[in-house]
Amino acid sequence: MAKETNKAIGIFDSGIGGLTVANAVSKLLPNEQLIYFGDTAHLPYGDKSKELIQSYAVRITNFLLQEQHCKAIVIACNTASAAAYEVLRDKYKGVVPVINVIDPMVEAVIADESIKRVGVIATKTTIASGVYSEKFNRRKPELQYTELATPLLASMIEEKFYNNEISHAVIENYLSDEALKDIDALVLACTHYPLIKQEISAFYNHRVKIFDSAEVVAKKLKWVLEKEHLAASAKSGTDVFYVSDFTRSFEKTTEIFYGKEIHLQQLRIWND
Ligand code: DGL
Repeated sequence: MAKETNKAIGIFDSGIGGLTVANAVSKLLPNEQLIYFGDTAHLPYGDKSKELIQSYAVRITNFLLQEQHCKAIVIACNTASAAAYEVLRDKYKGVVPVINVIDPMVEAVIADESIKRVGVIATKTTIASGVYSEKFNRRKPELQYTELATPLLASMIEEKFYNNEISHAVIENYLSDEALKDIDALVLACTHYPLIKQEISAFYNHRVKIFDSAEVVAKKLKWVLEKEHLAASAKSGTDVFYVSDFTRSFEKTTEIFYGKEIHLQQLRIWND
């Protein structure tokens, strides 16, 4: 049996956007082996029901634990974190740590005393879950909170529309919404949005603090691994990237989320 510390970190997302988180993890924790699972057969999660996303998340986590023997699970997807984190945390309590992308982001924002009014942009399912508003209100009730579903952004980025006139126009249209007026911080609550962070910041003339999940989640994972004595001292295997449905187009798109093209392996863990 492999030593606990030598086991891999399991990371999953609805698709390949979670590679922004995987990339931040591999940079901060170069000794850790990563097993990534992108559920490309079922994406997008952003407009699916909570119950369906929960069933996908449980199946993927079972695969990462039972077949890949991972020592920790990172839900590298805002929508899956919003819909399924509590279910996974309770189901695997005492088995492995489960890290979501929402709590570390909320912690980073509330720790910044200069922020008085925060906005969140995300998929429809993340916004409809009410999870950000509930967490901010509970943990820092004096913070003014506002949110907006921005469903076009994830597919726009996947189709490589960013840093161009089209993306500028879409971003301007969304961010001009009355709901986001007078914010001094904006949370990019979707794995895809780090790719448009600079454009968003430029829209606000760099006067609004922009938070994205990739780095804060990697830092949280590091903290959890150290606390649980699970951190690896040397890399025990190569990183593996699975998808539930392979297309060459997905593989090419990994470049924009991971910084370089990576090889994707198709793995069917569903019978459908
Ligand atoms: N990964 C999703 C998220 O972070 C965006 C893509 C999707 O809707 O599946 O919310």
